[in-house]
Amino acid sequence: MSLAGGQRQLDIKITRKAFRTASGELREVLRDFSLVLDAGKIHALVGPSGYGKTTLLRIIIGLDRDFEGQVSLPPDTKIGMVFQEPRLLPWRNVRDNLRLVAPEAAEADLSRIAADLGIGEHLNYFPGELSLGLARRVALARAFAVEPNLLVLDEPFVSLDRPLAMRLGDELVTLVERKKLTTLLVTHDLDEAIRLADHIMLLGGRPAKIIADFNISCPRATMTAEHAAELKAEIGAIMAGASA
Ligand SMILES: Nc1ncnc2c1ncn2[C@@H]1O[C@H](COP(=O)(O)OP(=O)(O)OP(=O)(O)O)[C@@H](O)[C@H]1O
Ligand SMILES: [Mg+2]
Repeated sequence: MSLAGGQRQLDIKITRKAFRTASGELREVLRDFSLVLDAGKIHALVGPSGYGKTTLLRIIIGLDRDFEGQVSLPPDTKIGMVFQEPRLLPWRNVRDNLRLVAPEAAEADLSRIAADLGIGEHLNYFPGELSLGLARRVALARAFAVEPNLLVLDEPFVSLDRPLAMRLGDELVTLVERKKLTTLLVTHDLDEAIRLADHIMLLGGRPAKIIADFNISCPRATMTAEHAAELKAEIGAIMAGASA
């Protein structure tokens, strides 16, 4: 399947996802959940803590197959994943952490990806020698190293200070736009979603499903602060109503 603009790259329907708790009860997390990603667009999935965002991503990338429903990806899909924690192997340096997911990649390509993400000087560092901001950059570089056509990010900037999170978000958008990557960004930060995404989906309810979605018609680069504030108020009101 070609991934030209306007086409769907991911179609997911989860009729039901439940966990069995330690006490033996079934905890239903997602029900009648459906999600479509358009090729080449950045989609933000916004929802409160504990509503099933990470659970959903694990299903999409095939780490969790214990659910009722269907995930349809084109057969040529290559997923770059950024987990909620950087999850680097502590006994390997940055270069080898990248190399692990891209054993065939040319050295020059890995160096270029590292340079794009501002870690070109840190290839010989071990994870324990990195700040959280640098570790998050390495996690992003690792996702790009697989040359993905679908990028899935689970709160990639959480617990960074605001200016750094904003800078990394802008860098991510530059790379994603350059490669026209279909992207699913999970965040609980509405400002981040409005600043980065083409499309915002709100997760709510128990069990959770998509309760609203918004196309951001105004291109990122031209959105005024007033427009962003209006959108935030509109979306925030829906979120507040859903959790009332
Ligand atoms: N392996 C598991 N066994 C039992 N319950 C689980 C398991 N994994 C997740 N859950 C439960 O599923 C629900 C959703 O968890 P999940 O980690 O997907 O939330 P989240 O939206 O990613 O939250 P956060 O924003 O805090 O990362 C929570 O109630 C959690 O306790
Ligand atoms: Mg999570």
